Amino acid sequence: MATTHAGRARAESYLCSSCGTASLRWVGRCPACGEWNTLGAAPARGPRPVGRDAGAALDVAAVPLADVPTDAARPLATGVGELARVLGGGLVAGSATLLFGPPGIGKSTLLFQVLASVAAGGLGVVLASAEESLVQVRARAARLGLVPRTLLALEGPDVERVEAAVLGHRPAVVVVDSLQSVSDPELPQPAGGLAQVRACVERLTRLAKSSGVPLVLVGHVTKDGDPAGPRAVEHLVDTVLSFDGDRHHSLRVLTAVKHRFGPGGEVGIFEMRDDGLRALPDPGPLMLGDRMAGVPGSVVVPVLQGRRPLLVEVQALLGPGRGGAAMRPQALGVDAARANLLVAVLACRSEVPVPAAAELFVAVVGGIAVSEPAADLGVALALASVVTGRPVPADLVAFGELGLAGEVRTVAGADRRLAEAARAGFTRALVPASSMPVGEVPAGMDVQGVRTLAEALDLVDSTAGTRGVPGTMPGWPTPAAAASP
Ligand code: TYD
Ligand code: MG
Repeated sequence: MATTHAGRARAESYLCSSCGTASLRWVGRCPACGEWNTLGAAPARGPRPVGRDAGAALDVAAVPLADVPTDAARPLATGVGELARVLGGGLVAGSATLLFGPPGIGKSTLLFQVLASVAAGGLGVVLASAEESLVQVRARAARLGLVPRTLLALEGPDVERVEAAVLGHRPAVVVVDSLQSVSDPELPQPAGGLAQVRACVERLTRLAKSSGVPLVLVGHVTKDGDPAGPRAVEHLVDTVLSFDGDRHHSLRVLTAVKHRFGPGGEVGIFEMRDDGLRALPDPGPLMLGDRMAGVPGSVVVPVLQGRRPLLVEVQALLGPGRGGAAMRPQALGVDAARANLLVAVLACRSEVPVPAAAELFVAVVGGIAVSEPAADLGVALALASVVTGRPVPADLVAFGELGLAGEVRTVAGADRRLAEAARAGFTRALVPASSMPVGEVPAGMDVQGVRTLAEALDLVDSTAGTRGVPGTMPGWPTPAAAASP
C-alpha cells in the first residue's frame, strides 16, 4: 500500500543521533549505521505561528530599505571601456558573470586584460586557469604587456582550490577559465559533462554571493550545441555576455544577453590586435575603411546591434553562372533564406532584369553577421546594383524591411540609424515612408521615405549620376586601397 507523504512525515518520528537516518519505529540498533541505542524521538515540528504571535516567535529579519548603504552596490570598474558600456558600469560585488563564445575568439585575452587593469590599480585579483598551464598564461601575458604583482594565478581544474584561493586572498575579482574544464573532485562524473558543469557553477556562484567577490566564468560554445555548454547554466548567473566575431577578421562584438544590474542588449566593439584587444568606441573607420565606394553591388546599411547603430557594408556579386541551372544565392553574414527571398522579390516586384540562372552572392563584409530584416532594402539595392552594373551613390545609406509584395516596411530605431549615418558623413538616406522621423532629420542629410522597392530603385537611379570616389568618406581617413584605381 502506498504511504502518503503526510503519513510518512508523521511516521518517521525517530532519528539516529549518529548518522541522522529517520526511522518509522523505534529499534535498538540503527539499521543504517549499526550503532546501538542512538535512535531518539525526532524533534516535533509544530505548526508555524501566524498572525500576532509570528513576530514574537521569529527573529524579525526585515530592515528599512532606506538604511541599506547604496555604495555597497557600486560596481568594480574593469578598466576596459567597451566592457563598461556593456555592463552599464562594472562588475557588481558578489555577482556571477558568464562570458561565452567560440574557441579562439579572445575570451581569455579579454579577461586577462580586465584582471591586469584592475590589478594595475593595486587591487588583488585571481585567475583560476583550469584549461591552460600557467606557462601558457604567462606567455599570453607577455604579449599583452604589464603583469602586476597583485595578479595571482592558479592552475588546475579543482573547484575546491578555487574556493580556497578566493577565501584566502579575498581578491577584487576572480576569473575561472573555463567552466568546461573545472571539476568537483567529489563527483564521479567526468569534467565537462553536464553534471560537473552545473555543480561547479552552482558552487562558484554561491562562493561569489557569500564572499562578495565578483566572479567571471568563461564558457566555450561549440557549433553543434553542446548540452553541457553555457546555455545550460545561464539561469544560474546574473549576467551573460556573448563574445563573437569572425575569426578571420579583427572585429569582435561583446553583447549583454542577460544583465541583472543594467540594460540588456548593450554592445561593445573591439579590435583584436597583436598586443591584445583594443576597445573601439567608434568602429566606423575599421568597418568601412576598406570600402570601394562607387563599385556596383555595394550599399551601406545602418544596422542596430542591441541599441547601438553600426554601419555595415553589404556587397553583392554576379558570378558567371554554371550552365543555365537556377541557383540559390550564396549568402555570408546574412541569412541565406532571407537572401533567397529578396532575390525573388527583386525579380518579381521590380523592373530589374534578374537573370533566371544567375549565380548571385551576397555578403556583409567586416566580420559582422546581420540578422535584422532592416537590412533587406540595402541587400535588395546591392543585388539590383550588381545586376544592372550601376553603382549606388557612395554617400547613400538605406534601411527597411521588405515584404513579398515589394512593400518597404517600418523598422525600429530610425532616428538612431540616421544619426550614426550623418555622423559618419553620409548625406542621403532611403528609409521606410512609415519610419520617417517625425521631428528634425540630422543636419546635412537628405532623408527620403519610400513605400516600395520600385520607388527606392527609381530614387537611386535618379541620383546615381554622381559616382563616388572609391574609398573616401568625408571626415574619415582615406584607406590605402583608395590609392589604386
Ligand atoms: P584567446 O583569448 O586564447 O581565445 P579564447 O580564450 O576565446 O579561446 O585568443 C585566441 C586568439 O587570439 C589566438 O588565435 C591568438 C589571438 N591573439 C591575438 O591576435 N592577439 C593577442 O594579443 C592575443 C593574446 C591573442
Ligand atoms: Mg581561452
